[in-house]
Amino acid sequence: MRWHRIGKRLTISRMSHALEVFDLQKDFPTTGESVRALVSVTLSVSAGEFVAIMGASGSGKSTLLHLIGGLDRPTAGAIVIEGRDLGQMTDRERTLFRRRRLGIVFQQYNLLPTLTAVENVALPAMVDGRGSQTVSSKANELLELVDLGHRGHHRPQAMSGGEQQRLAIARALMNDPVILLADEPTGNLDSRHGQAIWGLLSRLVRENQRTVLAVTHEPGGATYADRVIVLKDGRIAGEIMPGGEGHASLVAARYAELVD
Ligand SMILES: Nc1ncnc2c1ncn2[C@@H]1O[C@H](COP(=O)(O)OP(=O)(O)O)[C@@H](O)[C@H]1O
Ligand SMILES: [Mg+2]
Repeated sequence: MRWHRIGKRLTISRMSHALEVFDLQKDFPTTGESVRALVSVTLSVSAGEFVAIMGASGSGKSTLLHLIGGLDRPTAGAIVIEGRDLGQMTDRERTLFRRRRLGIVFQQYNLLPTLTAVENVALPAMVDGRGSQTVSSKANELLELVDLGHRGHHRPQAMSGGEQQRLAIARALMNDPVILLADEPTGNLDSRHGQAIWGLLSRLVRENQRTVLAVTHEPGGATYADRVIVLKDGRIAGEIMPGGEGHASLVAARYAELVD
């Protein structure tokens, strides 16, 4: 255990926590009233834990993932990853931290259209200045892992939505992230590829001691997680312990109770 000073509060933090979020609030300014996307969100995720986040469209899931990924700043509250307060980092420190410690799968993929699949996957390592030989063989291995070994030289626009999504997952794994943040990573996949991705995320946690935070609409996908956090109108409505794969209907029923 050790102490953290966060804002004016002193908080105990266990080193085993990969991620801690304290009293997070996010308002988006708009022309009329500002939109409050997150309200008092407090949660922690242990190292080596697989957490799913469920919630209706507009409940704040992507906003939460973007804030945790250091891509946007909270209006209030704090985010501590591996004991480091994101709010205390400079922009440069945050960018490096994100590149070296986090992997992010965006809901809209954010692939670069002018690069081929293998170049897209390799990009995070190239930006980090790593040698191209090992980078390219690793990028090809990751493409194999997501069943895209045959598509390495195609550009994203020549690929289906599901293929682009798997490409985005491969890219997020390129720098061996300690924490993977994935926004609806199977939203565009058929059930065979969807299950393969949930299995892959689950193996990253069980066999490689990674920490995964994945947003999903799918109760079946959520059953791969250790714990499901449910958001409603920007607040945490409750948690579900899925109790293992195959309990999708239990997750769906408990989810409906929490959000209705
Ligand atoms: N950049 C933005 N500007 C204004 N409002 C936003 C912005 N991003 C998200 N919102 C609003 O914040 C709320 C939460 O959005 P989001 O986090 O994308 O939800 P989810 O991912 O759960 O569908 C929604 O009401 C959305 O319209
Ligand atoms: Mg979203």
